[in-house]
Formats: sequence, C-alpha cells, structure tokens
Amino acid sequence: MQITLPELEAIVRDAGQIALTHFKNLTQLAINKKNPRDFVTAADVEVEAYLQKILTARYPEYGFWGEESGQNANQNARWIVDPIDGTHSFAKGQYFWGISVALEIEQDLVLGAVYAPALDDYYSAAKGQGAYKNGQRIQVSAEDDLGNSMIGTGFACLRSYLENNNLERFSRIAQKTTGQRRFGSAALDLCLVADGQLDAFWEQELNLYDVAAGALIALEAGGSVTDFKGQPGIFPKQILATNGKLLEQLLPLM
Ligand code: IPD
Ligand code: CA
Ligand code: CA
Repeated sequence: MQITLPELEAIVRDAGQIALTHFKNLTQLAINKKNPRDFVTAADVEVEAYLQKILTARYPEYGFWGEESGQNANQNARWIVDPIDGTHSFAKGQYFWGISVALEIEQDLVLGAVYAPALDDYYSAAKGQGAYKNGQRIQVSAEDDLGNSMIGTGFACLRSYLENNNLERFSRIAQKTTGQRRFGSAALDLCLVADGQLDAFWEQELNLYDVAAGALIALEAGGSVTDFKGQPGIFPKQILATNGKLLEQLLPLM
C-alpha cells in the first residue's frame, strides 16, 4: 500500500477546509434536491472533486467511487468517498457532519478516515492497527447493560419512503435503553461507537460510502459490525455496530 495514514490525514483535512469555507457562508450555498428528501450542495460537489483529483493523481493505482460522481473504471482497489455525510445537517448550519474516505482492496477495507471539520475531530484506522481520534488510540465503551446504554440510529428508510421505516424498531429499542440519539451522519455515528460516546448504532438503507470508513474504525476500536441477524460483515442495507458487549441483548430487538 503506497499511502500512509498521515498522508491521508493531510489530504482529508485539506478537503475539510474547502467544506468549512462553504459552511461559513451558508446563505450563498447552492443546494439541489436529488429526490424530495435528499440534498446535494455545491460543497459536496467541490469536496468530492478535490478528493478525486488529489487521490487519483497521487495514487493512480486505485480507482474512485464517490457518492456524487459515481464509480470510475478500477473498482478492484478503490477509494470509497462520501464528501459530506450529513448534508442536511451541514446545510442547516449544524456541526454534526463529516468527510468519509475509505480504501478498499479486493473487497477488503484497509484504511478509513472520517473527519468532522466543524468539530475538528479526525478519526482514522488502518486494518489490524487499531483506531485513532485526533492521534489518540480509541476503544469502544465497556457498557454491558442495555438498560444503561446510549444508542444511535438514523432514518434513511424514511428518505426512501419504505414501509419498514425503522420507527417500530426504534420504539422497541428506545424503551429498553437510557439514551437515544439521531445525529444525522452515519459515518460519524459509527465513530462515536468507536470512541465510546455511543454504545451501539444501527441503520437501514445506507450505501457503502456512508459506512465503509466508519465501520473499519468501529471494528479496529474493538466493536462488532454485523447485519440485524448478527452476521459479521459490513452490510449497508442493514448495519448494526455495537461495543460487542450489547450485541446479544440488541439482536432480539432488531
Ligand atoms: C446521510 C447521513 C444520514 C443517514 C442518511 C444518509 P448524506 O448521508 O448518513 O445520517 O440517515 O440516510 O444518506 O446523504 O448526508 O451523505
Ligand atoms: Ca452519506
Ligand atoms: Ca453525502
């Protein structure tokens, strides 16, 4: 692998400065709708264009898959990029949004970075080398009682007008937990499981670019990442990340 974590961090932090320039000037931000409940802004497009330009110029051996620009030729070894995860929060001037960049080689995630520029929190992981936040090693929480736990989720399925819209599941789980959060960025939600701010997170109807980097970071922090039946792996259509200790208590409620 040619790229190092510090090299990736420099590139992602530079992309963060581009996003912050727009974030500090929201009244001028061009916003378009991809569907009645899904947005793309000029910031999403500019950040992705920057990442694609830099990553493909410096590491031509890797392909590129971006949420806004799609997939280019080489998808066997590729960057998987969500330029702004939490675009609706970004456009509303909220702080909880992030840039997500993962490197996948032969279906194996080997590098992941999630940067929240407005919070200046930078999460990263390399496969087998642990997870970090702002240079400090992180690990999942020790909470082993669901009744005491803080969980997070999201409602991508509402965006897709799905019948199975996570609301009943949320109601079931919320009644068994102490705290519930809907932060609005699946990539950051997974990083909050990695550093113990959340004890578990689940969501349906996501895409690999929403979860690739965050899932690697949660796994490298000692968490579990499965589907709603407990099958280990990264399943964007139904992803459940926990601190590991709450998995068996959550599965019957999924
Ligand atoms: C969205 C965020 C949100 C999740 C959505 C995603 P986007 O990503 O991750 O938390 O609930 O459905 O699509 O569209 O802002 O990149
Ligand atoms: Ca996203
Ligand atoms: Ca996005």
